Amino acid sequence: MRPALPIAVRAVLLLVLLSSTGSVLYVTYRNTRNARSLAVLSLESTALALSSSAENALRASGKGSAGEIREILSDRVVAYALIAGGDGTILFHTNPRMAGAILPEEGLGRWLHSGAGFGRRVTLGTGLPAYEYNYILHRPDGTPELLRIVLHTAAADRILSDARTMWWTVAGVLALLWAAGIVLERLFARQLRLAVEVERRERLSLIGQMTASLAHEIRNALGGIKGFVQLDEEKKRAPGDHNGPVSPALRGIGRIESLVNDLLIFSREETYESRPVDVAPLVREALETDASRWGGSVELSIPPGIRARADREKMRRVLANGIRNAVESMRDGGVLRITVGEEDRRIAIRIEDEGPGIPEPDRARLFTPFHTTKTDGTGLGLAYSRKVVEGMGGTIELSNRKEGKGAILSIHLPSAGGAGHA
Ligand SMILES: Nc1ncnc2c1ncn2[C@@H]1O[C@H](COP(=O)(O)OP(=O)(O)OP(=O)(O)O)[C@@H](O)[C@H]1O
Ligand SMILES: [Mg+2]
Repeated sequence: MRPALPIAVRAVLLLVLLSSTGSVLYVTYRNTRNARSLAVLSLESTALALSSSAENALRASGKGSAGEIREILSDRVVAYALIAGGDGTILFHTNPRMAGAILPEEGLGRWLHSGAGFGRRVTLGTGLPAYEYNYILHRPDGTPELLRIVLHTAAADRILSDARTMWWTVAGVLALLWAAGIVLERLFARQLRLAVEVERRERLSLIGQMTASLAHEIRNALGGIKGFVQLDEEKKRAPGDHNGPVSPALRGIGRIESLVNDLLIFSREETYESRPVDVAPLVREALETDASRWGGSVELSIPPGIRARADREKMRRVLANGIRNAVESMRDGGVLRITVGEEDRRIAIRIEDEGPGIPEPDRARLFTPFHTTKTDGTGLGLAYSRKVVEGMGGTIELSNRKEGKGAILSIHLPSAGGAGHA
């Protein structure tokens, strides 16, 4: 699968999420706005209806009967109502004790002559919210008076609180939607990674099979050629000489042989016999075979009893290559430092050298098969090491030392329990 596909799928998923979020938010916003204006409208129309009924009653009965008006304004939704003259004197109040009191408002007379009715939200003395509607009442004789109707807003506020609840519900649904989208994206990405990994493994395994059968054929053919050249060399070599006329050919054959052997080891399908392996003797064995003739000094820090879960023979090869790489990088002298320890139930093996370290451009290619900077190297050592260390459930990396020059090969393997474990 191409990497462009996940980007396209991600973009589509994001677009779907964004557009559905946008439309849900817009619809909710519209609904809330409508609910708000509906609430105000319902208060306003109730107040208006009551005001005109009161005005009609006033006109019908000439001077206006307080009893009739009281009855009209006795609706449960009315908190209180009053009629005041231009000088602010309360002529009528639903609470009869308030009649005769003076309204504190200034400019009431002016407003009664030139103003228009209006509504506003207020808070009652009890702390409850209310809606106050001021209406200009005209007596049969044309005198304007203020009719103030104050309504309880509980019913209208319920509409608003329902609208607020709707926001919370929508926020919850959107959070769920996004969470589902993110989970879906993660699942998809994981699935894709697995598919790519499976494809890579299959391709590698196919290349491995081809390489192995090719290497096998070359080795068989080489066996015959080598026997023939050796015979020829023995025939033509003068008595007492080490080298005959075809010695260079024999050396070349030897080189091809070792390359083919490395290839066979690298390309074969591995099976792992993972068991508890004592790390200290394994390191010493690798040192003996690969650093015994080296002129520098070796520093070991390996607590006894450290055991990794690994395939012993494969691990020995990995360590041998690591040690060989380290001493080859230092040539004749320097310090080779090997430390082994246990970190978070994993065994950490570090092989440090004082060589030139890894040049930045090479870092990405270190574990690629056939990458080598040596004239006689095959470049399969690290590639093989990664293959088997990862096959044993471990990790391997090669980096430059943080202090001083040189490189450090770090290998982590599952712990098999040892001195540190019961
Ligand atoms: N300790 C090190 N210091 C500097 N460079 C290193 C070190 N270890 C590895 N390298 C670089 O990584 C390359 C690849 O190493 P790798 O072990 O895979 O192959 P090689 O040693 O060249 O050949 P061989 O197949 O014989 O092991 C080396 O050629 C070298 O350039
Ligand atoms: Mg090597």
